[in-house]
Amino acid sequence: MDSKAIVITGMQWGDEGKGKIVDYCAEKADVVVRYQGGNNAGHTVVANGQKFKFHILPSGAPQQKECVIGNGCVVNPKVLLEEMNMLREGGIEPNLWVSSTAHVVMPYHLLLDGLEEAHKGKFQAGTTRQGIGPAYSDKAARFGIRMWDLLDKEILAEKVAKVLPLKQYMLSALGFEDPLDLDALVAEYWEYGQQLKPYITDTAALVNQALDEGKTILLEGAQGTLLGIDEGMYPYGTSSNASALGVPAGAGISPTRISSVLGVLKAYTSRVGGGPLPTEILDAVGSQIREQGHEYGTTTGRPRRIGWLDTVAARYARMLNHPDGLVVTLLDVLSDIPTLKICTAYEVDGEQVDRWPIQAEILARVTPVYVELPGWTGCTPEEWLEIAHQQSIEALPREMQGYLSEIEHLIGTPIFAASVGPEREATILIQDVF
Ligand code: IMP
Repeated sequence: MDSKAIVITGMQWGDEGKGKIVDYCAEKADVVVRYQGGNNAGHTVVANGQKFKFHILPSGAPQQKECVIGNGCVVNPKVLLEEMNMLREGGIEPNLWVSSTAHVVMPYHLLLDGLEEAHKGKFQAGTTRQGIGPAYSDKAARFGIRMWDLLDKEILAEKVAKVLPLKQYMLSALGFEDPLDLDALVAEYWEYGQQLKPYITDTAALVNQALDEGKTILLEGAQGTLLGIDEGMYPYGTSSNASALGVPAGAGISPTRISSVLGVLKAYTSRVGGGPLPTEILDAVGSQIREQGHEYGTTTGRPRRIGWLDTVAARYARMLNHPDGLVVTLLDVLSDIPTLKICTAYEVDGEQVDRWPIQAEILARVTPVYVELPGWTGCTPEEWLEIAHQQSIEALPREMQGYLSEIEHLIGTPIFAASVGPEREATILIQDVF
């Protein structure tokens, strides 16, 4: 039997609808692996009439697929336990493994996240305040606490005792004077470790073994390519490799084991947080899209910034992820807008460029060049489901078909599926990645 490792990654600034696509693909998969990020993610899955909002659990959880939180993730154990309970309340027992080498988000990381952001002023990314950046900083500085450390009280106490004075010092420099209680902290996190003990394992070994056995693995990206620490718009992004580039290191598999990459592309742009957004729509059309798409952060509830589809950015994401196919999502949200725009190039310093300039300072002064296309009339969610039921692109409004072929043409990657609603069934499959 041939094994498969399929990466599902976001082509933009996150919130592309990856959760739904992972759930859609999970039907045919054995294992679903999160390989980066933490509970800064917000993946919404509508399954069997139930709506789940996951921050750290892989989106394969409602289908009781074997789920893995890989070593490239940072884990807030309290949030993880809460999500596991949420799943149980929905009648589903977690089928979960957590990497023993994933790093733990500690309470001082949460405190530092907010204080560091405030200190950064105009350079702040507008983080989710979940302690993600500070936890990854400690990982890189080799001051981190790993899941494995939670299982041995002595080791945990020794490591936390070493790092705590430094954190206290930094917190105080940023204006936070309350003392952190070492004993209470160790007791609380050791207790989390006790609850999570049955789930903590060497997940790289587990994933590689699954591939050896010919199983199909989905590698679920969180955030999106343009938020990646190396590949995104620095410093206005997150602290992990939020694209297919993060898979080998974050899941513990060789690049040679990856069989295909699916790039999830939202039909327009959205962004939570700071930094330049070249195609941002600041008028009533932006508000219309925000309301139609319920574009408010899953983790923070913040209104998302909205923009036209930016194919300069998407071509950059294409170069890095080299996806076999695209899944275009949230097409129904763009309904009832008479004229739609797609950004094809930028003008900067008197020149037209069709390549992503990478530097935030340059992106802040680009002017998008647009092509205009006719929009389509919307219909009810039930009607979208009926259209999707026909499983044919020809069943979509003619203008939507035109919009999709323009995307394919401008990005240069075939479209494998189109999504016209949050439900699994609201998906038209064009080419199967399996
Ligand atoms: P952090 O990951 O919380 O440190 O936030 C860094 C940046 O990434 C901020 O601009 C966040 O708004 C953004 N971000 C983090 N996670 C997500 C996500 O799941 N979707 C969209 N944006 C995100």
